[in-house]
Formats: sequence, structure tokens, C-alpha cells
Amino acid sequence: MLNHIRELIREISALTAASAEEAELLRVKYLGRKGIIPALFDDFKTVAPELKRETGVLLNDLKNKAHQRLEELKAAHTSADGEGTEMADLTRPAAVYRPGSRHPLSVTLNRITEIFSRIGFTVADGPEIEDDWHNFTALNFTPDHPARDMQDTFFIATSPAILLRTHTSPVQVRVMEKTQPLIRMIFPGRVFRNEVISARAHCIFHQVEGLYIDRNVSFADLKQTLLYFAQEMFGENTKIRLRPSYFPFTEPSGEMDVSCLICGGSGCNICKHTGWVEILGCGMVDPAVLQNCGIDPVEYTGFAFGMGIERITMLKYQVRDLRLFFENDVRFLSQFSGAL
Ligand code: PHE
Repeated sequence: MLNHIRELIREISALTAASAEEAELLRVKYLGRKGIIPALFDDFKTVAPELKRETGVLLNDLKNKAHQRLEELKAAHTSADGEGTEMADLTRPAAVYRPGSRHPLSVTLNRITEIFSRIGFTVADGPEIEDDWHNFTALNFTPDHPARDMQDTFFIATSPAILLRTHTSPVQVRVMEKTQPLIRMIFPGRVFRNEVISARAHCIFHQVEGLYIDRNVSFADLKQTLLYFAQEMFGENTKIRLRPSYFPFTEPSGEMDVSCLICGGSGCNICKHTGWVEILGCGMVDPAVLQNCGIDPVEYTGFAFGMGIERITMLKYQVRDLRLFFENDVRFLSQFSGAL
């Protein structure tokens, strides 16, 4: 066996190959799974104990030399005949890149931001983790208001109360505490409520609220601003209607409906055959709230409004299930490609 190995070492050092394919065939012959060298390793078991050491050393030497020589042969050809460095085929069709698309909620928010920026509203944001003062107390929620209940609010700590904001109104409070009027801003952001997840409700969703405070701001300004918004958002034939409502932080308060986007008001199952769909809450900022935030309610008045971005998006694009916004299924998301 020793002689046989020595012979193979000589043989291998003299090997030549005319092409990369030939080099590969030689590699298989000597080193392949059923090649000459692995077979010798199998035979090693039968070598007499006193010869094992010498044979083992020589066998390893053979294996290393074979590896090295066969690599050399292969390398010589891959650089010489160009295998692996082959010219790119410029006529081949290119790989298709699918451009990503914006998330539908971003599309809606960008549109809302753009509409309000045209009439002088700037954007501000604030923390998602809030204290009781900014989320409730400054906004005139009485201590026993049901929204303060664990059923509706996610609390992080109870005394003092630290919670996930249930609306974006606390950002209004933060801005009013720091800024004297004129204030004309919108506040987009993520909000949290302890709701059971279904097609119509989620524990996380998004709002945009707006605030305008100055001297002599009236309900007529609110109504005209919202009409402008509705027509820019849903089309120039959109009508609005305001219904009386209640929020602790506005007085008077209202809810705004727009004429149904699907049937235009004649009645369909989207508007439950009423011709109208509700899109936002609004009202004149309660003087107590202005006072809480350090703004003089005798000198200044203001209006505020708030809407759910998911709801507006569902109406605009006829999305039937709120959960689709959070699942990130590309079959859903790609339908919004091209939208800004
Ligand atoms: N903050 C209210 C909500 O979450 C919405 C709202 C904002 C209503 C401003 C009136 C004025 O429901």
C-alpha cells in the first residue's frame, strides 16, 4: 500500500487537464465520493498496526497534494477559458423589481395632511405613553368618566396613572401648554383602546385631530373648514351634516356625516340606507380646557375635531375589514401601489 500511495503522489503531481471539464473529471476520479483516494482511506482499516502510522501520514499527504493539484488545474482553466468570468448576456430580460407601495393608512394621512396644510395647518406629534393629566384631566374628563375605566384604557401604572393614550387630544394639551395662540395644527398618531379585535374594531388604530385657536374663532369657521376638508377628500359634490353630540373637552360638540361616497345619498348598504356616513367628532374647545392649559378663554376661542384614519380609508377604498391594515399581506398592500 505504501508504494501504491507513493506512486499516486507522483502521478498526481504530473497531472494535466485541457479544460475545466477535464479537471473536474480528474477531481471526481481521485477525490470524488467513490474516487481512488477515499477508497484508500477505507482500506486503511486493514493496514497492519505497525504500519498504520507511516501509512496514515503518507495517505494524508496524498490527499492534500491531490486537493492542491486539482484546484490548480481547475483555476488555470477558469481564468483561461473564461468560465465564471463569462460576459454578461445583455440581451437577457432583466429581473423584475416590484416597486413597493405606501401603506393605505399613510396614503390617507398624507392626503389629510396635504389638505390641511393648504389652509395653514402645521403638524405636531406627542408621546404614545401618557399621564392622566394630558389624556383625561386637562381635557375635562370627570374623575368617574367611563373612559377612565380599565375596560377602555390600557394602563401601564395606576398611581400615578400612566397609560397608552386613548386619543391624540393629549397632544393638543401639550401644544396649548407651551404655545399661546394663534394655534393652527393637526395631530396624527397611533392610539390604543381596550377593544376586542374584529372587522370593525381594533385595540390599536390611528387618529388625526385638528385644533384652531385664535381671537373670534366661531362654529361657522369649524363648519366651513370641515366642508372644505370633506370636499377635498371625497370629491367636490360631497355634502356634510353636523349632528349634536357630546365630548368632555368641547362645547358645543358635534359629529359630522358626509353624503355616502358609494351611493351619493340615495341609500345603500354602506350607509345602511340613510345616505350618510359618520366620519368625525368636533366642537368648540371647552373654556375649561383652555383654562387648564394656560390660555385665556375670555380672549380666545377655538375649535377642534378628530377622525379615525382607518375609518376614512375604509370608506374611501371600500375596505371591509379593519384587520387588513395590520396584517401586511402584500396582496392587499400592493393594491395601493402608485398612491402617494
Ligand atoms: N378625541 C376624540 C375621540 O377620540 C375626537 C375629538 C377630537 C372630538 C376633537 C372632538 C374634538 O373620540
